Order: sequence, then C-alpha cells, then structure tokens
Amino acid sequence: MKHSPILALTVILCTTALSSFLVAASSAQVSMPDSVLYPEGYREWMHVKSALITPQSRGFKRFGGLHHIYANAKAVAGYRTGVFADGAVIVADFLETQEKDGDVSEGKRRFIDVMQKDSKRFAQTGGWGFEEFSGDSKTERTLINPAKECFQCHTSKQESGFVFSALRK
Ligand code: HEC
Repeated sequence: MKHSPILALTVILCTTALSSFLVAASSAQVSMPDSVLYPEGYREWMHVKSALITPQSRGFKRFGGLHHIYANAKAVAGYRTGVFADGAVIVADFLETQEKDGDVSEGKRRFIDVMQKDSKRFAQTGGWGFEEFSGDSKTERTLINPAKECFQCHTSKQESGFVFSALRK
C-alpha cells in the first residue's frame, strides 16, 4: 500500500495531539491540589492525649465520641519547642464509644483527621495540610474545602503553631 500524504498528516497530527495531551496530563499532576498522605503507622507514634466528647457538647455531631491524638517524632519536637518543622504529622483518631454496665470502651473508628506540615505546599493554611480519612479507609478522603472545614477553626491557635493540644507529663 502506498502511503498517502493525508495518512502521513493524520499520523503527525495524532502524535502531536497525544504528546500535548501527555504533557497536559503530567503538568496537571504537578499542579493538582496538594494532598496529605495517609499517616501510615501512626498507631506506633507518641500518644499525646485522649478526650471524650459527649452529647452535651456543641461539637458532638461532628466530633462526638472518644478521640486519641498521635504525633510523629518531628511533631513531638514541635510540641516541645513550639515550632513545628516540615515533616511533622499529627493524627486525631475518632472512635465511637460503647457502654456496658457503666464501662465505656472504644467502638468503631469514625474517621481520622490529619495535619501534615509542609510550609511550602500548604502555605495557604498556615503551613499545615489538613485531611480526613473515613473509617478505617486509607484512601477515602472526605474533605471538600480544608481551609474552611479545618483551618478556619485552627487559626485561633496561631500562637502555638495552629495546634490545640499540648503534651502532658
Ligand atoms: C470547631 C473547631 C475545629 C475544627 C472545625 C477542626 N478542628 Fe481540629 N481540633 C480542634 C480542637 C479543639 C482540637 C484539640 C482536641 C483535643 O485537645 O482533644 C483539635 C485537634 C486536632 C488535631 C490534633 C492536633 C491539635 O491541633 O491538637 C488534628 C490533627 C486536627 N484537629 C485536625 C483537624 C482537621 C483535619 C479538621 C478538618 C476536618 C479539623 N481539625 C477541624 C478544633 C477544630
């Protein structure tokens, strides 16, 4: 078969379209909204504190139940010095509670809230990336607007690096 000029032109056009598509796709990846990593292994980190939010609390619907807060080594250093370096990660682990004969114990995991420090990537929100993972899932992210849903409230703690909790003895 003889190659027609039209066929050659089509091949060139397709190749050009494909390569510009690939360039667009790879640059889209770079400029994608920065995402917070799932905090792999956080249950091995330092336990900072726990608290129980009961139905009497205004925050019950959103944050009700038991929560435990964990910090990786960089975040522990941040709690101690008041300055959280890039790479610091803090996890708040929210669990349901169950009661039997007056004993309250941990129930199913509701979600985990994560703060990951990266002053460049998350410059818009105090250098912290905020994310929420549903239940036990490592991939199901629930936030639509972390600046509004998380950072807005955490701004009240600017003097302690946007972190509410503190290490106790
Ligand atoms: C209405 C205010 C409010 C909102 C909204 C809020 N937080 Fe918090 N957050 C708190 C408070 C208060 C604590 C401290 C809880 C404690 O000490 O037991 C906290 C603690 C945390 C911690 C542990 C570190 C710290 O600051 O003590 C993480 C991680 C966290 N929140 C992530 C998030 C994420 C992610 C979101 C968005 C889904 C969010 N928070 C939304 C008030 C808020």
